[in-house]
Amino acid sequence: MQLISGKAVSADIRVELAEKTGKFAEKFGRVPALAVIIVGDDPASHTYVNNKIKGCAQVGFRSICQKYENGTPQEEIADCIRSLAADDGVDGILVQLPLPKGYDEKYLLSLIPDCKDVDGFSPTNTGLLSMNTPNTVSCTPLGVMHLLASTGVELAGKDAVVIGRSNTVGKPMAMLLINANCTVTVCHSKTKDLARYTRNADIVVVAIGRPDFLKGDMVKEGAIVIDVGINRVDGKLVGDVDFEQVAPKCSFITPVPGGVGPMTITMLLANTLSAAENRLS
Ligand code: GUN
Repeated sequence: MQLISGKAVSADIRVELAEKTGKFAEKFGRVPALAVIIVGDDPASHTYVNNKIKGCAQVGFRSICQKYENGTPQEEIADCIRSLAADDGVDGILVQLPLPKGYDEKYLLSLIPDCKDVDGFSPTNTGLLSMNTPNTVSCTPLGVMHLLASTGVELAGKDAVVIGRSNTVGKPMAMLLINANCTVTVCHSKTKDLARYTRNADIVVVAIGRPDFLKGDMVKEGAIVIDVGINRVDGKLVGDVDFEQVAPKCSFITPVPGGVGPMTITMLLANTLSAAENRLS
């Protein structure tokens, strides 16, 4: 069993991004810029946003962070997004999700132009991915593809099971694996006898948001298991995979923490640089 270190893969990519940022600045006279909008006081969301801002600093990007209290009129936030959308010096706009109750997520996200949609959540970016002509791809599934590539294992022809069907992770993950010529099954909370699928899979990506969901008897010997779960149990970070049971059966597995987690923000930074390059060149 080999551990896939998201921490190490992520660190290597950030070094590359910092170098590319230097070249970008020489060419365009400024560094890439990411704007992050957060509404409300959810502590986990604030931690993610702080890490996004820190990530920008680490690779040399400019960042703008707009914080709004829960209860701020929706149009005030909409105006902020419109002004960032019109600002030529801003390359990426991200609205941290979930928004507090009462805000229309679909409406606010629709104000982000496709060329600045560094989350890859827009209908156009989602559609382009499903047509295998991707523009910007959702950060977490894109990070998983980098982790799979780091194993050196050929993906074409592999049986892959994705557990979870969210618009942000499960669905784009399935698309990326299809585009990589895997045979893909998507399982979810309503799937009957889910282990029937996972037991036959060469690759299992778990993004269901339930601590220790994937057990040892649910995977086959030699499988690659990617754990997207970030669950807080008694203050401790736990994945969706019962690591102790599953790891001994795997050829490769990601730990939590230090697996998929570090990749997500790195992919956001990569998407921001690409968005900047695409817009300016
Ligand atoms: N909340 C949790 N993950 C994400 C993400 O990747 N993007 C945004 N915008 N919000 C999130």
